[in-house]
Amino acid sequence: MNIKKILYKTIIQSFEKIGINKKYDPIISRTNTEYRGQYQANGIIKISKIEKKDPKKLSNKIINLIKSKKIFKKVFYTKPGFINFIINPEWISEKLNIILKKNNLNIKKKKKETIVIDYSSPNIAKEMHIGHLRSTVLGDSFAKLASFLGHKVIKVNHIGDWGTNFGIILAFYKEKKINLSNLTKNLKNIEKHYIIAKKKFDNDKKFANLSQKYNLKLNKNNINCKKIWKKIVSYSIKKNNVIYKKLNISLKNKHIKGESAYHHMLPEIIEDLLKKKIAKKIDGSVVVILKKFKNRIGKPMGIIIQKKDSSFLYSTIDIACLKYRCSILNANRIIYYTDSRQSQYLQQIILIAKMAGYIPNNTIIEHHTFGMVLSKNNKPFKTRDGNNIKLIHLIKEAEKRAYSITKTKNSNLNPKEIISISKKIGIGSIKYSDLSKNRITNYIFDWKTMLTFEGNTAPYMQYTFTRITSIFNKISYDIKKIKHPIILLEKYETELSLKILQFEEIIDESFKKGYMHLLCLYLYNLSVHFSIFYEQCPILKHSNEKIKYSRIKLCFLTSTILKIGLKILGIPTINFM
Ligand code: ARG
Repeated sequence: MNIKKILYKTIIQSFEKIGINKKYDPIISRTNTEYRGQYQANGIIKISKIEKKDPKKLSNKIINLIKSKKIFKKVFYTKPGFINFIINPEWISEKLNIILKKNNLNIKKKKKETIVIDYSSPNIAKEMHIGHLRSTVLGDSFAKLASFLGHKVIKVNHIGDWGTNFGIILAFYKEKKINLSNLTKNLKNIEKHYIIAKKKFDNDKKFANLSQKYNLKLNKNNINCKKIWKKIVSYSIKKNNVIYKKLNISLKNKHIKGESAYHHMLPEIIEDLLKKKIAKKIDGSVVVILKKFKNRIGKPMGIIIQKKDSSFLYSTIDIACLKYRCSILNANRIIYYTDSRQSQYLQQIILIAKMAGYIPNNTIIEHHTFGMVLSKNNKPFKTRDGNNIKLIHLIKEAEKRAYSITKTKNSNLNPKEIISISKKIGIGSIKYSDLSKNRITNYIFDWKTMLTFEGNTAPYMQYTFTRITSIFNKISYDIKKIKHPIILLEKYETELSLKILQFEEIIDESFKKGYMHLLCLYLYNLSVHFSIFYEQCPILKHSNEKIKYSRIKLCFLTSTILKIGLKILGIPTINFM
């Protein structure tokens, strides 16, 4: 049930009846004030201007045509040209009684698309850190949302398992005499080794040459190098899997298709781009010149896709990858979850792939960018010595903090239960504090606010869910079998019910641009409305059976939405606390 869409259609139809034949957008938005009603059409002023009509007269004409429809309790005009709507509680209860009987609240499956979602995608040989949090959490929840809506979702973990970095590590191992026989025990130091090696690479020419040589060896499938590489990669993957599991992220090994996976395609991509005259050789490198982008001195920008020494780059792989995703995976929509710094880079890659004819016209490619995680002083959130905060440490800290909160709040629980609940609260808090912010902007990571039980936080949502569950624990019958319909008498019931009915609308909006914060905010508002309803309207104690059962059904619908919503967000629910 998407009320916005119903209102949109209703107005469009009335246009035809009054002789406006263009398909204008009446711009329906949710409002929530006495003065503005519950929905509003904002587009009338603009339409009146174009049609050279008086906005008040036009609005009133439309109002007269539609006001008797069952969906409306009231349709009214406000200055200088708005149409405002109040939805009829009887209509709301009718719709609620229908969705109550259906699976997934009767939310319509969408026309099935194949959606490739590229997210998390950490570089191998380094432990996952705060910089991977947003891509992982946002991407995973978007994937869950897309699946919920019935799309074919292909999750891809495009890990950085190829390129110069591996040349550097292999060269370092060569010098340190680390080989296949003693590799395993050295792997736990891989990150430290890489940092030392990278410094050396930057400052020592001889070592840099050796690294290039090893990079080429790996590129040419040298058996020994490949074996060492494989072990490093699988070690890193194992470590990342621990994080995914703890964070309740659905990525598994089968979703890994890293940079190395496209390696075999690269020579033919270069050949093809040269043949199509999209790329050319300049000083031994293969370059694509893009007029649309300017370099530092204002000239068309050159994107190198093959270096002089014949090795390939991150960009070459992404071009091949686009071709693969379009022609083999048949993607209708490809979405990248990387931070905004890769924005221009991705635009360039997409442009090159389009020029080469790798992307069909109707395939949509989107970059769901996100801002940085900051600390209170507005600087990047880092450890005291200025390093990236590792996700494993962040998770442990969250669990520790949640533990002490849970313990003081629930002194009657046994230690095992406290640990289990605090893990859910801790992880939930980290994820929810990220998901509930508009992904486009930076946000400040703040332990205190994310772990409170008040406001738009995970603990509050988890608590609300638990509260409703505890009502159900007091009854022994199957709610779905209750015959009495929902009837809306009190204002608080109607307000909660309208919120319930708006769920699908919100789901659609969140899905459009991957704005998970809209879903979070909605769930929060739903919870607030539920709390008011719960305080103002007696439920189990009500003497009138009809009202009691109707209210139980409202509780049931609220908890169903919270359950579905939190599941999409990947936030664990708690049955008691
Ligand atoms: N590994 C990259 C990084 O850590 C992100 C990869 C994003 N995906 C892609 N197809 N380029 O920045």
